[in-house]
Amino acid sequence: MTVSANDPAPARDERDRVIIFDTTMRDGEQSPGASMSLEEKLELAKILEEMRVDVIEAGFPIASNGDFEAVRAVAEIVSESTVCGLARAGAADIERCAEAIRPAKRGRIHTFISTSPVHMKWKLQMEPETVLEMITKSVSLARNLCGDVEWSAEDATRTERDFLLRSVEAAIKAGATTINLPDTVGYTYPSEYADLFRDVIENVPGADKVIFSTHCHNDLGLAVANSIAGVQGGARQIECAINGIGERAGNAALEEIVMALKVRGDRLPFHTAVEPLHITRASRYVSAITGFPVQFNKAIVGKNAFAHESGIHQDGMLKNAETYEIMKPEDVGQGATNLVMGKHSGRHAFREKLKALGYELGQNALNEAFQRFKDLADKKKHVFDDDIVALVDDALASG
Ligand code: KIV
Ligand code: ZN
Repeated sequence: MTVSANDPAPARDERDRVIIFDTTMRDGEQSPGASMSLEEKLELAKILEEMRVDVIEAGFPIASNGDFEAVRAVAEIVSESTVCGLARAGAADIERCAEAIRPAKRGRIHTFISTSPVHMKWKLQMEPETVLEMITKSVSLARNLCGDVEWSAEDATRTERDFLLRSVEAAIKAGATTINLPDTVGYTYPSEYADLFRDVIENVPGADKVIFSTHCHNDLGLAVANSIAGVQGGARQIECAINGIGERAGNAALEEIVMALKVRGDRLPFHTAVEPLHITRASRYVSAITGFPVQFNKAIVGKNAFAHESGIHQDGMLKNAETYEIMKPEDVGQGATNLVMGKHSGRHAFREKLKALGYELGQNALNEAFQRFKDLADKKKHVFDDDIVALVDDALASG
């Protein structure tokens, strides 16, 4: 369906506020090769807090002493965001997690267990009834140690529906305050994921008392679309990571989620508290500390996300930026629109570039310089400002 600029924007309602849960330091760090030092995690936590991320999942405290120390240190310095640690369903995990988040002004224990047939049979080697008992035990223990408890049904999207409903009911009864239905293997489709939330929210007693969360992996490239569909189905928390890092193909990218909700606020009533101005800084910092480059054409934060080379696009951009940009690069901390000079560039953009470089040429000199520029651009991948200065000086000298 197309949306007209004249359609009224839906009214803002607190019930439509989407909690942004950042898992860059936990699921993101589980990307092979992405480990971060304690100092790097602290710096990242400061950036995330400044961005007004609601929940920072700082690690998996039982995984190693380093992870425990990092979660604890993040809990000590963060005061606005909730600091969360991950724990499996066993007492040792949960108690270690509670200890790590203890210094936090707002702390959360996130405990999980698999509920899908394939995970229960092969990974856990447990009967479904035992899994149900473990949900009750683990969530009750976590709730005795912390007032804010998230429970996740790992592999929820491949779980039999009746068993998922029973599992969620057990977690809510035991005191979970957030219920996460992860698409652990990036398997679901947007419409299917939205229906999953609708079904669970409608059919589980007590569902109206908790927040539902999405957690989408990107194995089919659908993580962001699925997360937004989950919100349309009733979820009000999205778990995501800066630059979309995470297990295998990664998690839903925080920057894409935040901007998709913001830019399409005309269509969807959902909003977040995240301040987009810090997005590019966060992206560059995560790329620097993990050594994972950001692909040039990555939405929002890629080098080319606001770059235009073709003459037709550059001409449109020079007349009105809304012709080819749906958000402003400055709003996400990306600097300015970049009209890249290359073989597809047109005369209009070339003249503007010359102006910016301090040249006002007459028609003949401009034609001559433009021809030389096109010849050069055919041979060279990147035409830099210095190349343009050289060819214009040359054209002026010979003219
Ligand atoms: O992908 C997943 O299911 C997870 C859980 C631990 C939430 O990362
Ligand atoms: Zn995950």
